[in-house]
Amino acid sequence: MYEMKPEYYTGIEEIDAQHARLFELAQETHDLLDDNLLQDKTEELSRLISELIDYTKMHFAHEEAYQKSIGYAHADRHALQHRQFEDKLMEFDFDSIGDDYNSQNDAVEKLLNFLVSWLVTHILKVDMLYVGK
Ligand SMILES: [Fe+2]
Ligand SMILES: [Fe+2]
Repeated sequence: MYEMKPEYYTGIEEIDAQHARLFELAQETHDLLDDNLLQDKTEELSRLISELIDYTKMHFAHEEAYQKSIGYAHADRHALQHRQFEDKLMEFDFDSIGDDYNSQNDAVEKLLNFLVSWLVTHILKVDMLYVGK
């Protein structure tokens, strides 16, 4: 369901592979939301968030180094968007998640919506600007 679409490809192999992994993590978040058998989702949710933080940091560092290597003029502005995304992920408020199934699902859904909308918009509207520069 969440995966790379033809319009997401930058043509830069490593960056496309990293974006594909981020979509995989979105899919894992969706699968967690869909899981009706798991009693407590907080552990899996926190695993996903830490994996997302680690993976995006690696991806962003790679992307920023690439932009530097091609002398991309708007690298600073781009990096700022990366920092804002990292901040949002790190601000994720576990304390507000209740023990009940519905409030846990709300938290997973919130992460999923944030992740997917950011990823798609950022790739299409921001990452694409340095492609072919
Ligand atoms: Fe980016
Ligand atoms: Fe990217």
